[in-house]
Amino acid sequence: MERHQYPLYLAPMEGVGARPFRVAMAGIGGFDEGCTEFIRVPKNAHCKSLAKVYQADELGSIPLAAQVMGSDPELTAQMTLELILRGAPRIDLNCGCPSNKVTGRGAGSSLLKDPRHLYEVASAMCKVSTVPVTVKLRSGFDDTALFEDNLLAAQEAGAKHIALHPRTKKEGYKPPAHWSLIKRAKEILSIPVIGNGDILTPADAKRMVSETGCDGIMIGRGAVINPWIFHEIRGMQCKNFAELKTYLETFVQHLPEGMRSKNGVNQLKQLCGFLYRANERLLEERTPMLRTPYIDIADFLSKNLPILENFCI
Ligand SMILES: Cc1cc2nc3c(=O)[nH]c(=O)nc-3n(C[C@H](O)[C@H](O)[C@H](O)COP(=O)(O)O)c2cc1C
Repeated sequence: MERHQYPLYLAPMEGVGARPFRVAMAGIGGFDEGCTEFIRVPKNAHCKSLAKVYQADELGSIPLAAQVMGSDPELTAQMTLELILRGAPRIDLNCGCPSNKVTGRGAGSSLLKDPRHLYEVASAMCKVSTVPVTVKLRSGFDDTALFEDNLLAAQEAGAKHIALHPRTKKEGYKPPAHWSLIKRAKEILSIPVIGNGDILTPADAKRMVSETGCDGIMIGRGAVINPWIFHEIRGMQCKNFAELKTYLETFVQHLPEGMRSKNGVNQLKQLCGFLYRANERLLEERTPMLRTPYIDIADFLSKNLPILENFCI
């Protein structure tokens, strides 16, 4: 298999992709950089619990970028500084989150409605930052009318790269992701373009790079379905059951206090809801796995590990 020559990013994912997943993924490795899920910029930009949401060494030797979600340039810039003080090697601006709770306040994908506003927030961050500032965006809010203006706004603001999930906010996660827009972004920007969206196999990664010319790729759901996807893109086959067991145990160990009992089972069901899509044999077991009432985490693991062994054979 051809070796990859481009950086591989683990996508920010709120919920399923939070710290327990990221740390478990770092145990498997293969990606060049991780990123936190969005960190909301609070009204006074001083987030008391920032230490809880951002720890620079969370992934050991793998750098962890911090993603911010804000709409006020000054407050978002202040938050950028706070995260740099905590050791963040890169700060990413979220211009994609579709949640109405978020967009209602003008942040996330709402920034895509007004390239000038996107520029102001991103440039306020770039002006104060001593580390690279990047922008992760969707292709638009309701449509792609402002797509190119938004890309150029990010570049002019000083973003060091953009990561593009080529769907509008309105499209949500409806397939397909429009990879042709990644190609278009490459044509009009001089900064690197990281392609994202619907990469589920090493072949998808290869096809995205050849079809779009993107400078790197970012994988979200594909990594939850197959935690070895980054290694496989690098031409290595290293799925093994012992590592999968450690992956699940690491996930459990890093669940927040209070989630290690009943709630922890729900977290594991969510994670395994993805894993069980990894092959046909597992897919058959997905609904029973989700419906079974487990007593606790140990019960979940003892019933599911033998099934998951199938994933590695
Ligand atoms: C559960 C979930 C949570 C997500 N949370 C974030 C987030 O916090 N910040 C962000 O920029 N994108 C977020 N995304 C979008 C992903 O980073 C990515 O752009 C999208 O899932 C498409 O890539 P994929 O097909 O590889 O999953 C989230 C996606 C999912 C499925």
